[in-house]
Amino acid sequence: MPCPSRTDELVFFVNGRKVIERNADPEVTLLSFLRKNLRLTGTKYACGRGGCGACTVMVSKRDPTSQEIRHFSVTACLVPICSLYGAAVTTVEGVGSIKTRLHPVQERIAKSHGTQCGFCTPGMVMSMYTLLRNHPQPSEEQLLEALAGNLCRCAGYRPILASGKTFCLESNGCQQKGTGKCCLDLGENDSSSLGRKSDICTELFVKEEFQPMDPTQELIFPPELLRMAEDPEKRTLTFHGERITWISPGTFKDLLELKAKHPEAPLILGNTSLGPAMRSKGHFHPILLFPARISELNVVSKTNDGLTIGAGCSLAQVKDILAERVSELPEEKTQTYRALLKHLKSLASQQIRNMASLGGHIISRHSYSDLNPILAVGNATLNLTSEEGTRRIPLSEHFLAGLASADLKPEEILESVYIPHSQKWEFVSAFRQAQCQQNALPDVNAGMRVLFKEGTDVIEDLSITYGGVGAATVSAHKSCQQLLGRQWDELMLDEACRRLLDEVSLPGWAPGGRVEFKRTLVVSFFFKFYLQVLQELKKLIKPFPVPNSRRYPEISDRFLSALEDFPGTVPQGVQRYQSVDSHQPLQDPVGRPVMHLSGLKHATGEAEFCDDIPMVDKELHMALVTSTRAYAKILSIDLSKALEIPGVVDVITAKDILGTNGTEDDKLLAVDEVLCVGQIICAVVAETDVQAKRAIEKIKITYEELEPIIFTIEDAIKHNSFLCPEKKLEQGNIEEAFEKVDQIVEGEVHVGGQEHFYMETQRVLVIPKTEDKELDIYVSAQDPAHVQKTVSSTLNIPINRITCHVKRVGGGFGGKIGRPAVFGAIAAVGALKTGHPIRLVLDREDDMLITGGRHPLFAKYKVGFMNNGRIKALDIECFINGGCTLDDSELVTEFLILKLENAYKIRNLRFRGRACLTNLPSNTAFRGFGFPQGTLVTESCITAVAAKCGLPPEKIREKNMYRTVDKTIYKQAFNPESLIRCWNECLDTSSFHNRRMQVEEFNKKNYWKKRGIAVIPMKFSVGFAATSCHQAAALVHIYTDGSVLVTHGGNELGQGIHTKMLQVASRELKIPMSYLHICETSTATVPNTIATAASLGADTNGRAVQNACQTLLKRLEPIIKKNPEGTWEEWIEAAFEQRISLSATGYFRGYKAFMDWEKGEGDPFPYYVYGAACSEVEIDCLTGAHKKIRTDIVMDACCSLNPAIDIGQIEGAFIQGMGLYTTEELKYSPEGVLYSRGPDEYKIPTISDVPEEFNVSLLPSSQTPLTIYSSKGLGESGMFLGSSVFFAITDAVAAARKERDIAEDFTVKSPATPEWVRMACADRFTEMIPRDDPKTFKPWSITVA
Ligand SMILES: Cc1cc2nc3c(=O)[nH]c(=O)nc-3n(C[C@H](O)[C@H](O)[C@H](O)COP(=O)(O)OP(=O)(O)OC[C@H]3O[C@@H](n4cnc5c(N)ncnc54)[C@H](O)[C@@H]3O)c2cc1C
Ligand code: FES
Ligand code: FES
Repeated sequence: MPCPSRTDELVFFVNGRKVIERNADPEVTLLSFLRKNLRLTGTKYACGRGGCGACTVMVSKRDPTSQEIRHFSVTACLVPICSLYGAAVTTVEGVGSIKTRLHPVQERIAKSHGTQCGFCTPGMVMSMYTLLRNHPQPSEEQLLEALAGNLCRCAGYRPILASGKTFCLESNGCQQKGTGKCCLDLGENDSSSLGRKSDICTELFVKEEFQPMDPTQELIFPPELLRMAEDPEKRTLTFHGERITWISPGTFKDLLELKAKHPEAPLILGNTSLGPAMRSKGHFHPILLFPARISELNVVSKTNDGLTIGAGCSLAQVKDILAERVSELPEEKTQTYRALLKHLKSLASQQIRNMASLGGHIISRHSYSDLNPILAVGNATLNLTSEEGTRRIPLSEHFLAGLASADLKPEEILESVYIPHSQKWEFVSAFRQAQCQQNALPDVNAGMRVLFKEGTDVIEDLSITYGGVGAATVSAHKSCQQLLGRQWDELMLDEACRRLLDEVSLPGWAPGGRVEFKRTLVVSFFFKFYLQVLQELKKLIKPFPVPNSRRYPEISDRFLSALEDFPGTVPQGVQRYQSVDSHQPLQDPVGRPVMHLSGLKHATGEAEFCDDIPMVDKELHMALVTSTRAYAKILSIDLSKALEIPGVVDVITAKDILGTNGTEDDKLLAVDEVLCVGQIICAVVAETDVQAKRAIEKIKITYEELEPIIFTIEDAIKHNSFLCPEKKLEQGNIEEAFEKVDQIVEGEVHVGGQEHFYMETQRVLVIPKTEDKELDIYVSAQDPAHVQKTVSSTLNIPINRITCHVKRVGGGFGGKIGRPAVFGAIAAVGALKTGHPIRLVLDREDDMLITGGRHPLFAKYKVGFMNNGRIKALDIECFINGGCTLDDSELVTEFLILKLENAYKIRNLRFRGRACLTNLPSNTAFRGFGFPQGTLVTESCITAVAAKCGLPPEKIREKNMYRTVDKTIYKQAFNPESLIRCWNECLDTSSFHNRRMQVEEFNKKNYWKKRGIAVIPMKFSVGFAATSCHQAAALVHIYTDGSVLVTHGGNELGQGIHTKMLQVASRELKIPMSYLHICETSTATVPNTIATAASLGADTNGRAVQNACQTLLKRLEPIIKKNPEGTWEEWIEAAFEQRISLSATGYFRGYKAFMDWEKGEGDPFPYYVYGAACSEVEIDCLTGAHKKIRTDIVMDACCSLNPAIDIGQIEGAFIQGMGLYTTEELKYSPEGVLYSRGPDEYKIPTISDVPEEFNVSLLPSSQTPLTIYSSKGLGESGMFLGSSVFFAITDAVAAARKERDIAEDFTVKSPATPEWVRMACADRFTEMIPRDDPKTFKPWSITVA
C-alpha cells in the first residue's frame, strides 16, 4: 500500500458548520485550529497537556462497530485535527450564546455563581453539556465524574457543582442531619444565632427561574457525516504536514500493509501518550498511522472463559464493557474486571478516558500505568496481527519490561486484548495511591492475584505487580514463586513483605522521589490484600466447610477499617448570609447575591481574555529563552541557528533595551550572569508561536558555573545570604517569662511554597502605534499602572505615550502584580525594535518555571506555658525563601511578622523574620502575603502546647484568644468581639464538641483509619501597610441616553469587583444596574492606580465610585427637584440642555497607614476580618490518603456588598488554602530545576477534594468599619482557614501515633501529603523498609523550605 503523495481534504464539522481543510497539518491541534483558524476563542489554553480541562469540547462520531453516534468530551489541546475526519465538534459557542439563545447549562452555571474569573468556565460547560447529551438526568456521581478533569482555581467548585446538580435526578438538601433533608427545612440547628435568625438566607440563586432542558434544541449529527461514515470505498486518507504525514487507512488490510511498509511509524489513537511525548520530550515521528476507522480494532467478544476487547476501544468504552460484564456474570468470574473498573474510575479524567485507547495504554507501558499491573496478574494476553498472520503473547513481566523476545514486532499491531474470567478460590485486587484521589497519576499502584487450592488456604498461584516503582511495571515474580504452597496467614504475610521489599527495590535516588513512601506502599498494599483475601476466604469457607482446612486467623473489627477505600462522595452544604433589610428598595442591589457581571459571557465563551483579542495586522509572536543554570556567568550566546529558522524575525537581548534594564539586582533580561534556572536571557520574535518556540531550542548559550549556589533556607542561613535586614517585633519580657513558666516546648515548622496556577497564564499583546511612540498594551495584570511605568522606563519614553488595558484577568492571586510588567516590557522592546505588534503567551511550563510563587517558610519556635495551657511567652524566628531577587520579599517578611500573633493575646512575644537570598526564581506576592505560612507556625505552637498539657488544642486556643478591646503586638487597638462570635458560632454550627467525642469513639474502634477534627480562629488584617496605597479613583460618564459608563482603578480578576462597583453606582445614582456598564480598566481613563490586591480593591474603588456618583447626583439635584416625577432619561436630557457636566471623577483618600519598625508600633491596617473554620477528616494510615468529611466556616463579612461573591471568595480561598496545606508540592532538582511545571506534577485541588459537607456562614453584621457601606474585603482571608484541614489531618495522625506509642509531637511539615501522613503514622511496615544513608546518594529532589 503506497503512501500517496497527494494530500486529502480534511472534512469535519464544527458547531454544525462544515470545515474543509485542504492542507491539514498533523501537528496542528484542535485547540489551536479553533482559536486561530476559526476564531472560536471560547475554548481556552491553560496547560496544553490534557491535565486541566480548560480546552474541553464535545466530539460526536459514528461508532464503526455499533454504528451509533457517540458524544464524548475531549481535551482539544491533545486532539490532532487530522483525527477529526468525519467528526462533529461542538464548542462552547455551539452550545449557546447571549446573542442567540443561552443553553440551560450556561445559564445555570452563571446564575449559580459558578464563575469567578471565568477562564475555566467554557471547559466546565462543555463537560456538563456532554454529560447531559448522554444522560439528560444524570446522577450526582456521574456529574462528579464528568467534572473531575476540569480544574478551577477560583471558585472552590461548590457553586459549579450546585449548578450541575439542578439537572440531576436526586438533588437533596444539605444532608447535615443525615435524614435526607436540609437542617434548615427541619427547623433544627437553631441553637446558634445563625440558625435562629429569620433574616438569614440560604439561597444564593432561585432555581425556579431556570429555563428547563430542551433536548430538541441540540445540534443534530450532520447527515453528511453519516453518509461519509458509510463510504463503501473505505479509502486511505493522507494528510501531509510540514514535517509529518498522517495516514488513516480505511480497512484492516490496508492498515497491515502500511504497518509492514512503515514499521517504524507508530499507531496513533488517543494521542494522550504520543502527543505529550512529542511535545515535551522531543520525540518525533515523520509518519503516523491512524486506525480509528478500522472496525476490527473495536470488536468486543464474550466467551465462556473470558472477554476480548478491541485495542481501539477507548478506556471509557472499556469501562462500560467491563461494567456490563460484571453485571452479567457471577462475582467469582469478575474479580479481574472489578479490579480494572476500580482503577478506571480514578485513571486520569473523563476526557482522557474518552480519548485514550486500550491499545495505546498497554503499548505505552508507562511505569505508572494503572491497568497493566492488573492485566498482567489477570493473565491477559495480547492478540497481535501483521501481514504475516496473527499470534498471541502474554501481557507478561517480560512484555512490560520491553524485552524484544516478548514484544510486538515492528510490523505488528495489537488487535485486541483477551482478559480471562477469574475462577472460584481466586481473588484479584487493585491498589493505587496518588497525591489526590482523582485526576492524578499514581505514586504507586499494584495488581495482586491469588489462587488457592480448592477448599483450602494454600496458595496455588500468586502474582503481584507494581507500577510507579521503577522504569516499567515491575513483577514480584520471584517472591510469588517462593510463597507457593504456603498458607494464607500471618507468617506468610511477614515473609511476603520481606521478600517483596527485597525484590521490588528502589534506590534512594530513584526518579520521582518519595522513595521511602513508595517502599512502604509496596508492603502496605500487600497487607491490605492479605486482609481482603482473608475476609473473602471466610465468606467462602462458611457455605463449604472443608473438613481438614485450617481455621482462618480472625481479623479484629478494629483492623477491618484497613479494607475500605474512600468512596467519591458528592459534596453537600449550606451557605448562610443575612438578607437585606426588608425596607431596602427592590432596585437597590447592594447586599443582594447579584450574579457576576460577566457570568453569562464566561459561560458562553464570549468573555474576551487577553489572548482572545483577534490577531492584529502584522502581528508577531514572542517566546522566551531562559537560563538552564542556577548561578553562572554567561560566556556566549549564539543566535545564528535560531535566526536561520524560517519565520524567525529577530532575537531580543539586553542590548536592545534603550532605557533601563530593570534594576541592578533584578534585570528584565540577563546580562553577563544568571541567578536562577528560569531567568529570562533573551526572546525570539517570529511569525508564528510555533516558529518562535522551535527557534529557542536552537539558541546556544555557554556558561561558567559560579559559587556558592544556594537553594535551601538551611544553606542561605549557613552562608548568611539574605535579601534584606531582619524584621522584628517584641513585647513584654520574653526571657523573664520563659523563666517563670511551667513548661517550654521548642520545635520547627516547614511550609512549602505554592504556585499561583492561575488558569490563564501570563500574556500580553503590545501594539505600537504609528505616531509619537505611542503603545497600546493589552495585558493580564493586577497592576497595569506598574506595567505602564516599567515599559516607560525600559523604552525610555514618557508614561503618557503608553496605555495599558485590562479587560479581565483569568486569575491572579498576587502572581500578576509584579510579573506582567516584566513580560510587558520585554514584549514592548520587541515591538519597538521590529515595529510590529508582539503577542507573548506563556506556556504553562514556562509560566511555572519563571514566575515564582508563594515563599516557602522555615520557622523555629519556643513557647513557654503554664500547665493549664495559658501561654506566657512565644518566640518565633521565621525564614522565607525569597529566591534570587528582592521582589516583594521584604514586604512579605513584614506582613508575616505583623500578622503572626493571629487571634492570640500573649503578653511576652518575640517575632523575627528574614528573607533568604537563594538561586531560585524570585518568589512574589500570593494571596494572604505571608499570613498563611506564618500563622501555620503559631497554630502549630498551640497544638504543641496542647499535646504537652494533655488538653485538646481548641481549649488552648480559647484560653489564649483575645477577648476584649485590646492592642496588637504593634499596639494597634482593635475589638475582638466578632472574632469571639465567629469562634462560638463555628463551634455551635459545626456541633464541634459532640463531633470531637464521636471522633474519639471512631478512633478507639479503628486502628488503620483515624479521624481528626480541628477548629481554627482567624484575625486577618486587611490592606497595605503603606499610606500611598490607600487611595483610589474613578471616572463616571453619563451619556445623553441615560446610560452610564463607570471606570475605576480596580481590575477584574474574577473577584467580582466590577459587579460590586456597579452595585455601588446603582445605589448611589438610584438607577437599575442595567443602565450601567464597565468596559475595561485602562491607564488612560484612571491614571496612577494601585495594584488590585490586599483585599482592598472593592473597599477603596467603591468609595471612589461612590464619590463620583455623589458628585453627579448633586449636579442633577436641581433638575430632579424641579421635576420629581420625571424619568432618569428626562433628567439627563435636561442636564445636557442646561450644560451640566455629566462626567465626574471620584477620588478616595483612604487610610493613613503607618508602621514604625524601630519602635515596633503603628497603625498599619484599616481593619480586621475575623473568621473560624472547623474541619474533620479521616486518614488511611496505610496509604496516607485522606477524605474531608466536613468543613464549617463562619466569616465576619460585616455588611456584605454581595453575599454570593463574598461566599465565593471565601470558598475559593479556602480550597486554595487547602491545596497549599495538603497537595500542592513544588519539587526542585538538586540543580535547582523546578520539576513541577504542569498539572501532572503539581496538584491543585479538584472537584473531588471539596469536603463532603461544606457549610459557609457570613456572620450577621455587627461592627461598622469605615468602608463602603460597612462591607469587608474578603479576597485573601479564607486562604488560611484551609489550615483547619491540615490541623484535622495532624490531629488524626497524632491519634494514630498515640495508639502506636510513638511520640505525639512531630515536626510539622506542610503540605500534609499522603507521603507525609503515611510516614508519620509509623507502624510495622514503615519499620520494615530499608532506609538509605542520605550521604550515600544524590536525591532526586531537594526541600527548599
Ligand atoms: C492528562 C493525562 C492523565 C493521565 N492519567 C493517567 C493515570 O492516572 N493512570 C494511567 O495509567 N494513565 C494515565 N494517563 C496515560 C494514558 O492512560 C495513556 O496516555 C493512554 O492510555 C494512551 O492511549 P492513547 O490511545 O492515547 O495512545 P497514543 O498516544 O495514541 O499511542 C501511544 C502508543 O501506543 C501505540 N499503539 C496504540 N495503539 C496500538 C495498537 N493497536 N497496536 C500497536 N501499537 C499501538 C502507539 O504506537 C504509541 O506508541 C494519562 C494521560 C494524560 C494525558
Ligand atoms: S489546555 Fe487542554 S487540558 Fe489544559
Ligand atoms: S473561575 Fe474557574 S478558574 Fe477562575
